[in-house]
Formats: sequence, C-alpha cells, structure tokens
Amino acid sequence: MKDSEYRQIPPNEDALTILRALLAEPGAFVSGSRLAERLDMSRPAIHGKLEKLRDQGFEVEAIRNKGYRLVKEPEVLHAELLRHYTEQAGTSMDSLYFPVIDSTNSEAERQLSFGRKGPFAVASSCQTKGRGRLGRDWHSATADNLYLSVVFEPDIPPQALQHFTLWAGIHICRALQSLVPKAPLKIKWPNDLHCGGRKFAGMLTEAKMDADSLRSIIFGIGLNVNSNPATYPKEIRRTATSLHAVHGGELPLNQVAAAVIAATQAAYDCCILGESSENIVEAWTPLSSLDGQSVTALMNGKEITGVAGGIDETGALLLLQEDGRTQAIRAGDVTLKK
Ligand code: BTN
Repeated sequence: MKDSEYRQIPPNEDALTILRALLAEPGAFVSGSRLAERLDMSRPAIHGKLEKLRDQGFEVEAIRNKGYRLVKEPEVLHAELLRHYTEQAGTSMDSLYFPVIDSTNSEAERQLSFGRKGPFAVASSCQTKGRGRLGRDWHSATADNLYLSVVFEPDIPPQALQHFTLWAGIHICRALQSLVPKAPLKIKWPNDLHCGGRKFAGMLTEAKMDADSLRSIIFGIGLNVNSNPATYPKEIRRTATSLHAVHGGELPLNQVAAAVIAATQAAYDCCILGESSENIVEAWTPLSSLDGQSVTALMNGKEITGVAGGIDETGALLLLQEDGRTQAIRAGDVTLKK
C-alpha cells in the first residue's frame, strides 16, 4: 500500500455528541427527543445514527418511551470513543485513528512533514511494518492490542530528551496499574513494561534535532491489551504477555489508549517542561523489574555482567560487577542471566 492510501477515520461530530450523551449517564436511558434536540435532528435521523453505531460494534438498547441505553462499547479502537476518553482523561490532544497503517511512528513523521503541529497522537488497529528497538520488527497484527505514537514539538535543548522514555514508562506504568490493580506492573530498563517476568509493552522514542534544539519527539508504544498470548508468534510466546492475561479479563481498549496518551502528556510536562519536582531515581525504584537480579548488558558490542542495582540520576542502569566495581550502562539491551 502507498503511504497516501492509508485511510484516517476522523471523528464524526454527530456520533460524538450521541456518545457523549449516552456515556455521561452510564446505565441510564437517554430519551430520543433529548438526543434529537441536542443534534437538532429528527428522531428518525437519530435512529439512523444509532443504527450506524450498532454496525460499528456498539450494543445500544432501545425501549419505547424510555429511550436509548449504551450496553457495550466496541472492543477495537474507535475514532469517536478515543476522542471522548482522551478529553475525559484531561488532555485536549488531537488523536488520529487509522484502521491500518505501516507504522504509527512513520505516520506521525509524515503528519509532521505535511505541517501538522504537535502535540497529537496517531493510533492504529494494525501495523504492517511495526518497528521495535534495535532494528527489530514489532508484531502488530491484532486489533485487540494498541499501536500508538504521541508527538511533541518542544524546541528546547536536546539534553532534555535524556530521561523522556524513562519518565514515559513511569507515568504509563502508574496509569495502567490503576486499571489492573492486582497485577504488579514493572519497567524493565530502559523501554519495556513487564508483568510476572513477561513483556507486555515496548516503547520506541524517535527524535529530530538540530545543533541546539530538539525539534520533535515521536514516542511510540506497542501495548498488548486484550490479545491472547497463546496466539503470539512462537518466538515471543514464552516471553510476552498481555494486560488481559495478567488481569484475568478484558479491558476497554479506547480507555486504555486515552490513559496512555494522558500519561505520555504528563511525562512530557514533567520531564521536558520541568513541571514536577519528582526525582527520577525515587520514582523509578519501586517500578524497576531488574533490581537485585543477575543480568547481562550488551553495550557497544561488549557484554557486561553484574547485579542490577537501580538507576542513577542520569537514567543509566547501575550494574554491580563481581570485582566490586559499579558500571553504569547508558544504552543497550539487558537480559536476565540464565
Ligand atoms: C520495542 O520494544 O522494541 C519497542 C516497540 C515499539 C512498538 C511501537 S508500536 C507503535 C509505534 N510504531 C512503531 O512502528 N513502533 C512503535
């Protein structure tokens, strides 16, 4: 498919108004005449709009003389729901939804080159060329997971980027933890979210900078939400999991997406705009999955083995080596020692 053939589904204002009215009173009936008044439309026209929503996976109960009640939301990303929940999560960030895309990070880059101004988010139900760290692919075939990029244009010195992905991990981990309270979520330095020793999300930050300024940050996250790990490709089946699997139930995908967008915005405000006095070492420590574990780090092609002991103020992972020396790992890949 050519880049220009990817189809964005923009939120439909009428559908958004109907959904806002139904979602404002969960479980309650909203009368057809109230909806008709709000949209300045006839009742048959409202009926037609609700039929359309049903076709998109909404379950809407209709009772004569009572009105309409939302029973179930679609299990996949939905442009209007994403907009509604993003607003509810306290951010006015624009979110662009594409049913299929090569990579949300690539689309984010294209949107910037077309002149779209950050911040904005790009979400998709399927990526045909999802990218992972270190040139790896990111398996992105199932619509019950989240593929999302959030774009900022900070125009500040590049050093500010140093901690951004760590802060994003911290804020996203906290936000998701409130949705799955019984499963302890952790961050595996530097870019993975884990639960029970298995990875359920990976983050990929790509930035454009010139000599003294950070022009754009494209923060991408692939998050396994409602997928079944038994269906994953063989190579990752034993090491990957999903929020559904650790929580023991389905999660509302559009609300999860909105929570991640808001958490990424919070990380940006805190790390790039300096709007928080929280210390990174203190924030990281309770969430770290590696502390006290024997690990091997691959840094600049060299293997370094030691016991992981948290991060320092620069965000580097500290490894206590056998000879008693501490080595700071600034970049690279870390695996648990077998
Ligand atoms: C990793 O763990 O290697 C990072 C994976 C990042 C995947 C996400 S999915 C959304 C965004 N678009 C991409 O092509 N990659 C990131």
